[in-house]
Amino acid sequence: MAKSRTQFICQACGNVSSRWAGKCEACGEWNTLVEEGTAGGIGSGPGALKSSRKARAVALTSLDGDIEDAPRIASGIGELDRATGGGFVRGSALLVGGDPGIGKSTLLTQAAAALARQGHRIVYVSGEEAVAQIRLRAQRLGAAASPVELAAETNVEDILATIGEGRRPDLVILDSIQTLWTDLADSAPGTVTQVRAAAQAMIRYAKSTGAAVVLVGHVTKEGQIAGPRVVEHMVDGVLYFEGEGGHHYRILRTVKNRFGPTDEIGVFEMSDKGLREVANPSELFLGERHAKAPGAAVFAGMEGTRPVLVEIQALVAPSPLGTPRRAVVGWDSARLAMILAVLEAHCGVRFSQHDVYLNVAGGYRISEPAADLAVAAALVSSLTGLALPADCVYFGEISLSGAVRPVAHAQQRLKEAEKLGFGSAVLPVGSAKGGEEIAGGIGAGAFRPTELADLVA
Ligand code: TYD
Ligand code: MG
Repeated sequence: MAKSRTQFICQACGNVSSRWAGKCEACGEWNTLVEEGTAGGIGSGPGALKSSRKARAVALTSLDGDIEDAPRIASGIGELDRATGGGFVRGSALLVGGDPGIGKSTLLTQAAAALARQGHRIVYVSGEEAVAQIRLRAQRLGAAASPVELAAETNVEDILATIGEGRRPDLVILDSIQTLWTDLADSAPGTVTQVRAAAQAMIRYAKSTGAAVVLVGHVTKEGQIAGPRVVEHMVDGVLYFEGEGGHHYRILRTVKNRFGPTDEIGVFEMSDKGLREVANPSELFLGERHAKAPGAAVFAGMEGTRPVLVEIQALVAPSPLGTPRRAVVGWDSARLAMILAVLEAHCGVRFSQHDVYLNVAGGYRISEPAADLAVAAALVSSLTGLALPADCVYFGEISLSGAVRPVAHAQQRLKEAEKLGFGSAVLPVGSAKGGEEIAGGIGAGAFRPTELADLVA
């Protein structure tokens, strides 16, 4: 019997150290180190087995023709299928992460019900709720009549035995990975060792049977529950379900996808009857717009293959402080500092005596540099107190030299703007090869600045 030594495992990143420390050396998170016995390594528990089966190598070319595309099962929930890249992939594992209470169980219950109605065998394993509670939720979602198989289990071996009975399932949902534990490891449930071992067992099950496996993972700032981050690199796809407190809509964001694009989002709205798809997010984000207010600019953005129009709001006010305040919600604060510096240096607009607040409407988050021009427009508009034209959209990346640089998908952005009734656009010169087409498409009011200074003039 091996000598048992204790070790400390960071519950956020999985780093192992021999001494306890307040801060993890590897990821820098605080209070995430938890003592787990070394005997607690995977394969040391009572159920550990030695296997000496030989692996079989297969020629890559011999697979030719066998596999056309990843075999998928589409849920029929458009926004979910968009985020997964066309449906759940058979034989793959997908992690769905998000804050507790954001709607992960709701989304997956709806997907399970939709798939079961199509005749697929779907098993929903919950380690958090009793079967009666799951049924109650399904009832509320109007999905109680669909033939989803429910199980309230937390032990991986029991789960595998349960789903092994009868026809091979098409999709197995495990809600949540943090509640699972396996006999193969003897740490407490919820620790990194258990989460990793349980995930591994379920991924192995997916690969060997061809069933799609969905692992639900809670993301918590507190290090008490092992973050799904330790599972991220093991699975084939990672989706994050996010939303702002106080807003009803939820965004399903693709973070990793071995079988499809990673920049897609699915947009939902939480209602009393579950999650509703939002097919046109722009209408949602522009919903409560005060077109006449200074400091507001509409940004024509892109999320993956889909254009999204969103309002950027700036408030520039004289500051009583020596070092004026800068606050940003929904955008990068370093990027705001850069835009302010460029406006000061190249356009002679002074913000050094002013507090600057920037907000992306609806709690939406923008990561595209293409929003630079819209931010600059909102800032200048708020500073001068002059409202921007209500029917105008903005996009373009601003460089440190003050030039407005072209961004991708100009046509699509403009098309979306036009669809929503915008008549003009401010965009970089040479945004697309067909410059004429752009100007012609969006209407006579379109104009294109050659310099950032045009914005200020
Ligand atoms: P849930 O799916 O349980 O969240 P998670 O699994 O991510 O922890 O969703 C819980 C929240 O969603 C809860 O605050 C109630 C709300 N909700 C609705 O508003 N409408 C509904 O139809 C359902 C089922 C939940
Ligand atoms: Mg849940």
